[in-house]
Amino acid sequence: MVRMCRRSALCLALFSAFAFLATAQQPTLLVDIDHRAQTSLDGPWHYIPDPYREGWGSNPDHASLNGYVKNAHYVPGGPLLQYDFARSPTLDVPGDWNSQKDSLFYYEGLLWYQRDFTVHPTPHTHLFIHFGAVNYAAHIFVNDLHVCDHEGGSTPFDCEITGVVKDGDNFIVAAVDNQRTVDRVPTIKSDWWNYGGITRPVSLVEVPDTYIDDYSLQLKRGTSNQLEGYVHVTGAAAGAHVTLSIPDLHIEKDAVTDTNGRAEFSFPAPSLELWSPEHPRLYSISLHAGPDELKDDIGFRTIEVQGDQILLNGKPVFLRGISYHDEAPFRSGRSWSDKDAETLLGWAHELHCNFVRMAHYPHTENEYRLADKLGLMVWSEIPVYWGIDWTNPPTLDVAKHQLWEMIRRDHNHASVIMWSLSNETPESLDRNAFIHQLAVEARSEDPTRLITSAIVTHFKGTTATLDDPLGQDLDVLGYNEYLGWYQGTPSAIPDYTWQNPLGKPVIVSEFGAGAKAGLHGPATEMFTEEYQDNVFRQQFLMLGKIPFLRGMTPWVLMDFRSPMRQLPGIQDDYNRKGLVSDKGERKKAFFTLQDYYAKMQK
Ligand code: GCU
Repeated sequence: MVRMCRRSALCLALFSAFAFLATAQQPTLLVDIDHRAQTSLDGPWHYIPDPYREGWGSNPDHASLNGYVKNAHYVPGGPLLQYDFARSPTLDVPGDWNSQKDSLFYYEGLLWYQRDFTVHPTPHTHLFIHFGAVNYAAHIFVNDLHVCDHEGGSTPFDCEITGVVKDGDNFIVAAVDNQRTVDRVPTIKSDWWNYGGITRPVSLVEVPDTYIDDYSLQLKRGTSNQLEGYVHVTGAAAGAHVTLSIPDLHIEKDAVTDTNGRAEFSFPAPSLELWSPEHPRLYSISLHAGPDELKDDIGFRTIEVQGDQILLNGKPVFLRGISYHDEAPFRSGRSWSDKDAETLLGWAHELHCNFVRMAHYPHTENEYRLADKLGLMVWSEIPVYWGIDWTNPPTLDVAKHQLWEMIRRDHNHASVIMWSLSNETPESLDRNAFIHQLAVEARSEDPTRLITSAIVTHFKGTTATLDDPLGQDLDVLGYNEYLGWYQGTPSAIPDYTWQNPLGKPVIVSEFGAGAKAGLHGPATEMFTEEYQDNVFRQQFLMLGKIPFLRGMTPWVLMDFRSPMRQLPGIQDDYNRKGLVSDKGERKKAFFTLQDYYAKMQK
């Protein structure tokens, strides 16, 4: 919006209004939301597409489509009415609009949502609207008041509406903008569908006037029986009591908040059972602070690197992984439900994986929750993907903010062992400086996990030397290669060799080939299942010889939509590198990988 009207004085006002909002104090982000009481706002919301962005009008704080609020009805001879939510069609929330309406399949731009809701606020509480995610930018209005904005399509945000809502009937308007622009994260081009909309659940969350807005509880680094962490209480004076209980360990601890509302814990847990893929032990914990109580189910484990090894609970581990997009199985569109998560991670488990790469953006929180339970370690990633606007400070801000939101939401999931800062970014000094800033932010927010990125592998002849300068900032080096697909022939793959001058653990974070499920032919014919299967078999002959390889996440679990994949009768808007088709058909290579991992487990 700002980009479209930079020249006029009015828009300068708009720009400064938005600029103010964008740099305002970090809004609250409640953690562990799925353990709090919520009033769902999911269901049908009216919508009005607004490709010409008419809706902003002259007053951004009254932007319910030029003030045509939801109840306006046309009165003969009355004011001109061209927008009326009440008479407009509906979209299901959560859900992207592209896969719900043929007329919105390729839609990119501004679209307005509206629904009514009833609430009876409790005195002395805070009321928030919690959005699981909105792609890409969101501007939220309640009863025609502008309550919050958010940028970033895959991380949650909370809008405080205490004092804005009335006791009884209210209405919410959400202006959602999924326009791709150079300065956004991701930027103009990405090999996945730009699904727009309120893509994850929305709910009302009421918390007491002093409430727990963040906590962390982990094993102290280098120990297997010492727990430490903190609880942050908003609204608490210094000296307020916070209690932590872990019933299965017969542990009850008390701490007091400092002047910043933060209470710290550190105590022995002698009989602790560590979390691992083989034994994904979760403990029910309860936190109490004044009138607030927060429960969670968390696991405890250590993750570290030692030379070119990755150590889980002090022992070397090989990460038998798979990459996957947050694409809904069978129906396509954005994944969001528990059923979607169970299907996707169920396939990973069926492959004998102990690791998943959630590409290329933070996935729905229920997948992390399920990974905790299933014992799947997680590579979690922000969409700093391909050629980002490296020298634009607001772009760095929004990348940092998405990183902060991802870590804030998921830092209590034992399954998450590494944060990925980027994917396949072209090497340059500006890119190195940008991602270095992200590495500093990640280590500051979460010193307990590993930092990685997926980097393009460049071969000189048949040798790859893994010396991208980005590696200086990383604990684990992720490298993508498509030998046998984008370069070289499948039969030549075993001849390639790898050098690791940095001496850090390496994960081959992508390799694979396309195949249309059910298309069979000679292994020399691209897009047959046989071709894809042969690429996997040849890859294993090469990968098995890399002494510092500590994991792999082949590309990709399931076919997913991408506007870059248009080959009729084969791709038809889908990237076909999936081991499973978008309809759930397992291809030959699925069983080859399954067998390879099964043998690795022995
Ligand atoms: C790249 C990229 C993926 C993409 C894949 C492909 O490596 O990381 O997002 O889908 O290649 O070309 O299929």
